[in-house]
Amino acid sequence: MTNYERRTAITGGAGFIGSNLLLYLVPSYPQWLFVNVDCLTYAGNLSNLRSIENRDNYVFEKLDIRDRRAVQQCWERHEIDGVIHLAAESHVDRSIDGPLEFVQTNIVGTANLLEAALRQREQLGRFRFHHVSTDEVYGSLGDSGSFTESSQFRPNSPYAASKAAADHLVRAYHRTYGLDTVITNCSNNYGPYQFPEKLIPLMICNAREGRPLPVYGDGLNIRDWLYVGDHCRAVDLVFRDGAAGETYNIGGRNEVTNIDLVKLICRIMDEKLGGGLRAELIEFVTDRPGHDRRYAIDASRIERELGWAPTVSFEDGIRATVDWYFDNEPWLAECTSGAYREYYDKMYSNR
Ligand code: NAD
Ligand code: TYD
Repeated sequence: MTNYERRTAITGGAGFIGSNLLLYLVPSYPQWLFVNVDCLTYAGNLSNLRSIENRDNYVFEKLDIRDRRAVQQCWERHEIDGVIHLAAESHVDRSIDGPLEFVQTNIVGTANLLEAALRQREQLGRFRFHHVSTDEVYGSLGDSGSFTESSQFRPNSPYAASKAAADHLVRAYHRTYGLDTVITNCSNNYGPYQFPEKLIPLMICNAREGRPLPVYGDGLNIRDWLYVGDHCRAVDLVFRDGAAGETYNIGGRNEVTNIDLVKLICRIMDEKLGGGLRAELIEFVTDRPGHDRRYAIDASRIERELGWAPTVSFEDGIRATVDWYFDNEPWLAECTSGAYREYYDKMYSNR
């Protein structure tokens, strides 16, 4: 077996953040092995990883984290001594339609990984467990203030509740079994390879096709946007240097209302393509049940303790993202073929 310094599993490595993370880590750390553990749901796409798939220090294992034995056997086979855990059902609207899958993957799946981590630690004498979580565990903010690492958990959607439960399990495995854990709670990411069900790629995709741009409620809900590349650098820092048992909030200090964001995308696309005002495609539709009003992250801890800061400005990041979706039409066509259109049309017709 090749003598790698570290042998790290990345769960959910074929998804949006996971593939950006692997594209960053695999070439950056040739002395580490990366094992991508992903069962390839609708949100997973191996073509994201084409540029690294033949690297010696990268392996793909198609498996479901709900299958504890399969996870254990995989980790034993590769002598895994750490995990960055991203595999999840990740879309709030889908969690409202069908919460039980979120319970199985996000809670039971995380518990399975924690058990496998304990076994690996027994064998190898070390194991670091990094859980990638969300600011949505903290619930919704009023007009002022921001989430810190000590904000109370008040999850509102089934998705947020399932992630909060997973965070609690990770914390419990640190307190009870002394497992070396770190948790990151980050704000809304955007950038290349995001499945076009989330706000930004959905709007780019629909505006491009001249379809309606559905804005929920009054459009004044606020999200704190973070470019995915900045998030990946933060995850790398926390996985390497975060203190055991600790949590780090990650955010872009970049609060924008949904309606301003959609109008910005329209303006950028008008400039790029000409041919009419895309903002005319905006439709205010029935609000999401339990819709969180505002998220904002106080990232001062990771900035102060680990020297991280976001580097991509919002307008640059959005422009780069619009360009990426235009330059990767076959990728988008693959995502939006098959069940996607049927699912999306059904959801939209209910609003
Ligand atoms: P995503 O939906 O794009 O990707 C999820 C990946 O997990 C997919 O590749 C999918 O195939 C895989 N997966 C799902 N269920 C699985 C299972 N049972 N077994 C194995 N693999 C499975 O998600 P994302 O946006 O990349 O988010 C990654 C992580 O980051 C999630 O844990 C999410 O909660 C968290 N997060 C995301 C955001 C965001 O803005 N996207 C913000 C904060 C936190
Ligand atoms: P989303 O990308 O689903 O992320 P999250 O719900 O995890 O924050 O949604 C971001 C915001 O955009 C959220 O306030 C809901 C809103 N939204 C719309 O207005 N229209 C849409 O079609 C979608 C998908 C989201």
